[in-house]
Amino acid sequence: MNQESESINAKEIKKRRTFAIISHPDAGKTTLTEKLLLFGGAIQQAGSVKGRKADRHATSDWMEMEKQRGISVTTSVMQFEHKNAIMNLLDTPGHEDFSEDTYRTLTAVDSALMVIDVAKGVENRTIKLMEVCRLRTTPILTFINKLDREGKEPIELLDEVESVLNIECAPMTWPIGMGKRFKGVYHLYEDTIHLFSATHGGKIMQGETIKGLDNPELDALVGDQAEELREEIELVKGASHEFNLEAYLAGTQTPVFFGSAINNFGILELLDAFADYAPSPQGREADQRFVSAQEENFSGFVFKVQANMDPSHRDRIAFLRICSGKFDKGMKINHVRIGKKIQVGNAITFKADSRKNIEEAYSGDIIGLHNHGTIQVGDTFSEGEVLKYSGIPYFAPELFRRVVLKDPLRGKALQKGLVQLTEEGATQLFKPLKNNDLILGAVGILQFDVTAFRLKAEYNVECVYDNVSINTARWVSSDNPAKFEEFKKKAFDNLAKDGGGYLVYLASSRVNLQLTEERWPDIKFSATREL
Ligand code: G4P
Repeated sequence: MNQESESINAKEIKKRRTFAIISHPDAGKTTLTEKLLLFGGAIQQAGSVKGRKADRHATSDWMEMEKQRGISVTTSVMQFEHKNAIMNLLDTPGHEDFSEDTYRTLTAVDSALMVIDVAKGVENRTIKLMEVCRLRTTPILTFINKLDREGKEPIELLDEVESVLNIECAPMTWPIGMGKRFKGVYHLYEDTIHLFSATHGGKIMQGETIKGLDNPELDALVGDQAEELREEIELVKGASHEFNLEAYLAGTQTPVFFGSAINNFGILELLDAFADYAPSPQGREADQRFVSAQEENFSGFVFKVQANMDPSHRDRIAFLRICSGKFDKGMKINHVRIGKKIQVGNAITFKADSRKNIEEAYSGDIIGLHNHGTIQVGDTFSEGEVLKYSGIPYFAPELFRRVVLKDPLRGKALQKGLVQLTEEGATQLFKPLKNNDLILGAVGILQFDVTAFRLKAEYNVECVYDNVSINTARWVSSDNPAKFEEFKKKAFDNLAKDGGGYLVYLASSRVNLQLTEERWPDIKFSATREL
């Protein structure tokens, strides 16, 4: 690679902002996603993101949603541009039964946007997701939503974020009233007032802005609230943290914006700041060494696999986050786990309303690889070097069901469907050594219904579930081959293979697990399988 192309790479990489939105269900993630796409010009009309909004509702709603999903804008990755920055927004499911999927996706982003409902404040899911972001010190920008409704006092809310989430808040904008008295936001660093006008539809309007807090125009337009605002701003400036880019990038401070996603309001300020301050693709630890995003050789890892994403294509897509270098159409890349080079001529990229073949992609981008069953979540691809990006575990499921086929003649289709759906990682398939049972394991109960629904819809297989007396699972291994052989013989009735062919001990109860662990000190029982 010559110097010129290297600097083109560096420029392209610098433009990227790869992020996810974290929030408690109902705070407005779907609405905000849609509005970001609208502002980014990736969609023309509000209302076209069906997304996974129904995640939070009952199973039946979720399924209905899935049914209607079709080829619409429900991609897991959405790319759009703003202020010369290229944004890669990674969708994460809202329902907690899908949290594993969310955790894995969060390993593929460089920053996050946190949405908080002004009336509800910091909620459970937000706390959990924040903990996950902390594991990799992911910088977080905050959007306080629904200012068109009555809610908590902004100062109180910032206190709550600071104490519950243990992060400094730096207000960037400040609301002028709320609910019926909501008049707009004041930008503390640009000294401008953006007046609120409700625009529910898909149109983007810049809205009216006034320069300067002391501008008499403000008094003319918002009356008494102008003086209230001036007093409040003085207070806020004295009592809150000043924006500090380094602290934001280090994950210790979150810049805060106020607005109303449904009204397209306050989003431009957020997006501008995001383009200016959010980190471009960061380097990443591999087992072997630290890999910088600017390195010229291509590398990346798969954080998600999805089957039948687009029912009309009926394909399985592996989502790969590029960690270094550049991807060119037709390039040969090394599938490190299986030590095989593959030529990739048809990787896909995701625009909001379409998918198309990629010509090139850079560090920070997500590309979709067609998966024919060889790619697993966690796999690393490189240009040749043996690299393994770590930190994407499979968790031992806590819930188990035996899959019972309604029509015995559909056995083959069932196997195929289960293998393909469990590749996604949300449910895991276990095959006991002692019989031909198919045991599904999941972390959340909704996963079972979704799997049954998708088996019917995507593979035309009907099944029901039986309860099984399995309480938990542990991956087993040992440095002592003789003991391991002995264990395998003795524990044969409790052993199974998982989807990746790894040996798993299925325990009927916690006590059973504990006793077995005590009895076999040479055997390692793991609650996670590192990928
Ligand atoms: P989620 O993805 O985080 O679960 O939230 P979503 O965007 O679906 O928003 C949850 C509800 O909050 C929706 O109402 C949505 O319209 C509403 N909402 C989002 N932003 C704002 C806002 O700025 N102001 C107000 N007042 N409401 C907002 P819903 O009734 O559940 O759905 P819908 O029938 O309106 O689609």
